[in-house]
Amino acid sequence: MENNKNYLANGEIWRDTDGNVIHAHGGHILFWRGVYYWYGENRTGNRYVSVYASKDLMNWEFRRDVITTVTKTQEHRIKTDRALVTADGKKINIERPKVVYNKKIQKFVMWMHVENGVDYSLAACGIAVSDTPDGDFIYLGAFNPFGYMSRDCTLFVDEDDTAYFISASRDNADLHMYRLTDDYLNVDKLVNKLWQGEYREAPAVVKREGIYYMFSSYCTGWAPNQCKYATATGMENSWSVLNKIGDETTYRTQPAFILTVADTGSTYYFSDRWNGQNYDDSRYVVLPLTFDSNQNPMIEYLDQVTIR
Ligand code: DGJ
Repeated sequence: MENNKNYLANGEIWRDTDGNVIHAHGGHILFWRGVYYWYGENRTGNRYVSVYASKDLMNWEFRRDVITTVTKTQEHRIKTDRALVTADGKKINIERPKVVYNKKIQKFVMWMHVENGVDYSLAACGIAVSDTPDGDFIYLGAFNPFGYMSRDCTLFVDEDDTAYFISASRDNADLHMYRLTDDYLNVDKLVNKLWQGEYREAPAVVKREGIYYMFSSYCTGWAPNQCKYATATGMENSWSVLNKIGDETTYRTQPAFILTVADTGSTYYFSDRWNGQNYDDSRYVVLPLTFDSNQNPMIEYLDQVTIR
């Protein structure tokens, strides 16, 4: 058992408390009853999404492969495609899974990007639900929200519990923001179309001191590029133009999500350092996200980070 790490070494192989490589790429962290749950892509074997748990954000225990090729599926009130394998039995692609808790239905709801395993032409979003954060999720299928393409995505729940799904549309040219229904099981309204023609991917949202920040990358496949951020006074309000943050490759990373630590309120940029030639060898980079006196965000590269 390895259970005493007090820092994360950026770009190195990260292992769980059993010593196995952590596969939680393009992921998301949910804080629930004193425990952080880290969901992410796991493309090994028949797996799609795995979840790890930690109390200190540095020592991660493997909990479960929550979505696999044999995950249970269930009909949903909206028409969806529930296939978890292709017609000839091959794996599809599930990318960027994000999980939030819905108080009304008392379930954990996952939204993700679903592709057909052949090319990136399906451009759909998928949803799954579970009674517990690390239980077997039930897959409710994939669909195109209001008929739109939907690729790189994120979820954000505001302080009043209104949830938003944000995803790249029109072959990634525009970023769409959908307000979800109050059970988080469908899109309710397309509330914003952002940065038309600017090809933003990998969106990640955080709210701090009344300001909403959205980070995103440019669209260059698995290759890293300059992260940019924008701000707004409300999710459905106008967003600012995009501003650069970090260096021109964002220290060879692409955003996964922004974490706010429950006890301290400090924020961290969690990102992927993809390996396009050998996906399973992709790594993680986490950096403190700090703010200057004008509330402008900053990230600087560090080899090792202690989360506090
Ligand atoms: C960049 C995206 O951000 C990733 O999630 C993935 O879709 C790759 N492109 C595929 O090339």
